[in-house]
Amino acid sequence: MEEILKTIASDIFRQDEWGQKAQYIPELAGIDPRQFAISVCLKDGSLYSAGAADKPFSIQSVAKVFSLVAALGRVGDQLWTRVGREPLGNSFDSVLLLEQENGRPRNPYVNAGAIVTTDALLAGRAPKLALAEILCLIKHMSDSDSVYINEAVAASEQKTGSRNKALAYYLQSHGNLYNDPELTLGTYFHQCAIEMTTAQLAMAGRALASLPCAPKVISHLRARRVNALMMTCGHYDGSGDFAFQVGLPGKSGVGGGILVIAPNVASIAIWSPGLNHYGNSHAGTRAAAMLTRATNWSIF
Ligand code: DON
Repeated sequence: MEEILKTIASDIFRQDEWGQKAQYIPELAGIDPRQFAISVCLKDGSLYSAGAADKPFSIQSVAKVFSLVAALGRVGDQLWTRVGREPLGNSFDSVLLLEQENGRPRNPYVNAGAIVTTDALLAGRAPKLALAEILCLIKHMSDSDSVYINEAVAASEQKTGSRNKALAYYLQSHGNLYNDPELTLGTYFHQCAIEMTTAQLAMAGRALASLPCAPKVISHLRARRVNALMMTCGHYDGSGDFAFQVGLPGKSGVGGGILVIAPNVASIAIWSPGLNHYGNSHAGTRAAAMLTRATNWSIF
């Protein structure tokens, strides 16, 4: 594994095309896209990395996986009365289908679906309690205390978040938001601003890969379902292409992170902040494809 990751990293660093930076907040627009890290956690608990695996990055929409796990833990399958399980085929912050589908977002990994999931997790509490629950869960899953929220990123998200605010109020108009939209949005913006390293993220994914070394935070059945949605919806309108290239469930974020799950085999985290036209990591997707080719880990 060490050799495979070394080869992938040197191949990635030789490339000329790194993709575009996320432009919508200065904290992400200022990051050099020519960076890369990959970490792989195997069944026996061993962790292998290459590149800047100890550098924290903004996990952004990768947090949607953890808030989904937390919300399912809190409200169970009832969540599915409020959020669907179908891919969208539009961009991650699209409002288009919400009107046609009466305010029930297509899936928990698009922004509208994640806002509903966060609302279910909030459940009348103070936002800081729901955020503490997500952070505690991630710390427990990654076996690490140094996972944190970048307050400057959260404030920028809040400032530029008109589209997410529109989604939240639209959901409220359909009766699919139970808390004050500003409180749900605050919780959502803060979870997007969580920062961690690929080493920590690969460790956090162990439970979803159902690795024996993982803490028991989710049942096998639920992990399979969370992964199934990562496969079909985890890369927004680029999900089909990610499945085609990589062949494993993955969840991306505009910070350039990708969590990839090889069920019963490995948990993989990749970071490279340059994005492709879907808003997913350009080099990260390439590296994930190289990894599954080298290991035969594709589920197909
Ligand atoms: O809510 C937003 O739009 C961002 N904070 C997160 C979006 C995101 O990561 C989409 N990922 N590809």
